[in-house]
Amino acid sequence: MKGLNIHIDIRILQYEELDATDRELIDAAREATFRSYSPYSHFSVGAAARLADGTIVCGSNQENAAYPSGLCAERTTLFYANSRYPDQAVKTLAIAARNERGEFLESPIPPCGACRQVMLETETRYNQAMRILLYGSNGIYEVKKVGDLLPLSFDASAMQ
Ligand code: THU
Repeated sequence: MKGLNIHIDIRILQYEELDATDRELIDAAREATFRSYSPYSHFSVGAAARLADGTIVCGSNQENAAYPSGLCAERTTLFYANSRYPDQAVKTLAIAARNERGEFLESPIPPCGACRQVMLETETRYNQAMRILLYGSNGIYEVKKVGDLLPLSFDASAMQ
């Protein structure tokens, strides 16, 4: 029998350890949580994408009475970024979330599987790594590329 070990490097940083551009992106993701429309889950998620030219695009989760019609903050943000600035790679995506008590999560917010899949395609589309910053008030996870969040991933190359 053979085995496969998958190694993932995640750095855990305090807000003060981030450089000014990453702090600005985290601030934007945190602010975006206040524009969440989440009357059903009361879970407010914000995301902020830093594009190759430095532009920041933000989004938040948008829910609907027909629950599956809603969309997560990450996909709202990436789809808007890609539709508004299709020629700009996404360099870094920051994500933050507040619970139903309105408090930012202490632990880094883990993106859902569907969002990881969309992040993966954003990365392959521009053929460059997208960093991900997962905000938690106790620490921020820095993931260097989407493949680290989604090992053994499915993409178009798997169909060949
Ligand atoms: N949500 C996000 O926006 N991003 C995630 O990665 C996880 C979940 C949203 C979807 C829904 O509006 C609410 O959080 C509860 O699942």
